[in-house]
Amino acid sequence: MSTARSIRRFTDEPVDDATLARCFEAATWAPSGANAQEWRFVVLRSPEQRAVVAEAATRALEIIEVAYGMTRPDPDDTGRRARDNRATYELHDRAGEFTSVLFAQKRLRMASDMLLAGSIFPAMQNFLLAARAQGLGACLTSWAAYGGEELLRTAVGVPDDWIIPGHIVVGWPKGGHGPVRRRPWQDAVNVDTWGAR
Ligand SMILES: Cc1cc2nc3c(=O)[nH]c(=O)nc-3n(C[C@H](O)[C@H](O)[C@H](O)COP(=O)(O)O)c2cc1C
Repeated sequence: MSTARSIRRFTDEPVDDATLARCFEAATWAPSGANAQEWRFVVLRSPEQRAVVAEAATRALEIIEVAYGMTRPDPDDTGRRARDNRATYELHDRAGEFTSVLFAQKRLRMASDMLLAGSIFPAMQNFLLAARAQGLGACLTSWAAYGGEELLRTAVGVPDDWIIPGHIVVGWPKGGHGPVRRRPWQDAVNVDTWGAR
């Protein structure tokens, strides 16, 4: 977990079915509300679907740039932020070259979208950890949000009664994994009362 960083650069080697299958099996070991398991994982790897993913990535990038005040880094800038941003641009620019997976969850009567999403995020995390355990790299994306949702929904044929809370790009990493950079866990923990460390 401590080296399961987002990977945004991949080699040309395709992800074989057996490796991907182990990620999906791990995904289905996750909990879901009432153990309903109303999830669907859609692998996007045909040239046609990759082209749609690329378009969704472009649309998401337009939003992300504004939201995070991100601009393409100067080629000479070797600072950490520039390096991170460079990798993010590369992932979005080359999105059409990679295999990725859409995570869909069936709507259920009474449950809010947030509650429904809670039934698929654990599966996505299991998928990420299984990918990491096998040496794969992966990156969660927002490409099925923003303008990309309708594009992907139409291209894949996701029915209206399914939500699409997530999307993950997966491949063999160029370079190493991790470690993750996080604030100390103690900053996030309160005892009994909000703010009580
Ligand atoms: C819900 C969600 C959406 C994300 N969307 C994107 C995205 O669209 N593009 C991207 O490059 N990274 C995306 N990320 C990856 C985060 O930027 C990344 O996990 C975070 O910066 C922490 O970095 P690390 O995973 O390398 O530790 C997303 C992560 C989450 C959880």
